[in-house]
Amino acid sequence: MKDIVIIGAGGFGKEVAQLIKEINLDKKTWNLLGFIDETTTKHGLLINENPVLGGFDWFAKNTGNPKKVWAVCALGNPRDKYNLVKKASAYHLDYATLIHPDAKMSNYSELGFGCILCCNSFISVNTKIGNHVCINPGCGIGHDTVIEDYSSLYWNITLSGNVCIHEGCEIGSKATVIQKKTVGKWSIIGAGAVIINDLPEYCTAVGVPGRTIKITDHDPTKKI
Ligand SMILES: CC(C)(COP(=O)(O)OP(=O)(O)OC[C@H]1O[C@@H](n2cnc3c(N)ncnc32)[C@H](O)[C@@H]1OP(=O)(O)O)[C@@H](O)C(=O)NCCC(=O)NCCS
Repeated sequence: MKDIVIIGAGGFGKEVAQLIKEINLDKKTWNLLGFIDETTTKHGLLINENPVLGGFDWFAKNTGNPKKVWAVCALGNPRDKYNLVKKASAYHLDYATLIHPDAKMSNYSELGFGCILCCNSFISVNTKIGNHVCINPGCGIGHDTVIEDYSSLYWNITLSGNVCIHEGCEIGSKATVIQKKTVGKWSIIGAGAVIINDLPEYCTAVGVPGRTIKITDHDPTKKI
C-alpha cells in the first residue's frame, strides 16, 4: 500500500477520498493518510473518518528520503488547482493518478499525472489527457480528443471526437462539445451548454448553442 494525501479538504476532496476507498475495495493500493488544506480552521478535523493533517508545511516534516508520500490535488476550479500545485512545487511531490474501477479508458489513450478519473466515465481511443485533469462521473471523451493540464470536467460531460480543450478549462455539468472544436485556454463553459463553434481563450460560454458572454483574462500562469 502506498501512502497518499489529498490536497484540498472541500467537497471534491471528500469525493476523492471515497474514490480511493473504492479503488482499494477493488485492489488494495492506497493508504490514505488524510487531507492537506491551507485553511487552518480545518486542521485536526476528521472528515468522513480521514483527518485534516495540516497545511503545506506538513510535507516538509513528513516527506522526503526515504519516506515517500503520494499526493493528488482535489480541487474543481482549475485556477485554484493551478495555484495550489504551484505552491506545493517547493515540496517535490509525486502525484498519483486515480482511476475508478468502473471508469474505462482505451489502452491507446494517455493520461498524465495528478489526474482523477471518476466512476462511469469513458475515454475512447487515441485521446491525450495532460496532468492534473479532473474528470467527474459519467463523462464521455471521444477519439483523438486532447485535454490539456489543469482542466476540470464536471458531471456528465460529452466531448466528441477530435475536440481540443486547452489548458485550465472548466466545463460545467452536462455540457457537450461537438467534434473537431477547440476551446481556448482558461475558458469556462456553463452547465448544459452545447458548443458548436471554436471558443476563444479566457471566455465564458453558455447556452444552446453555446455563445461567449464574456472574456476575462483570469490566467493564473501570468501572475507574478
Ligand atoms: C457559466 C457559469 C460559470 C456562471 O458564470 P458567471 O460568470 O458567474 O455568470 P453569471 O452567473 O453572472 O451569468 C451571466 C449570464 O449567463 C447566464 N447563465 C449562467 N450560467 C448559465 C448556464 N449554465 N446556462 C445558460 N445561461 C447561463 C445567466 O443567467 C446570466 O444571464 P443574463 O446576463 O441574461 O442575466 C455558471 O453559471 C455555470 O454554469 N457553472 C457550471 C456549474 C457546474 O456545472 N457545477 C458542477 C460542479 S460539480
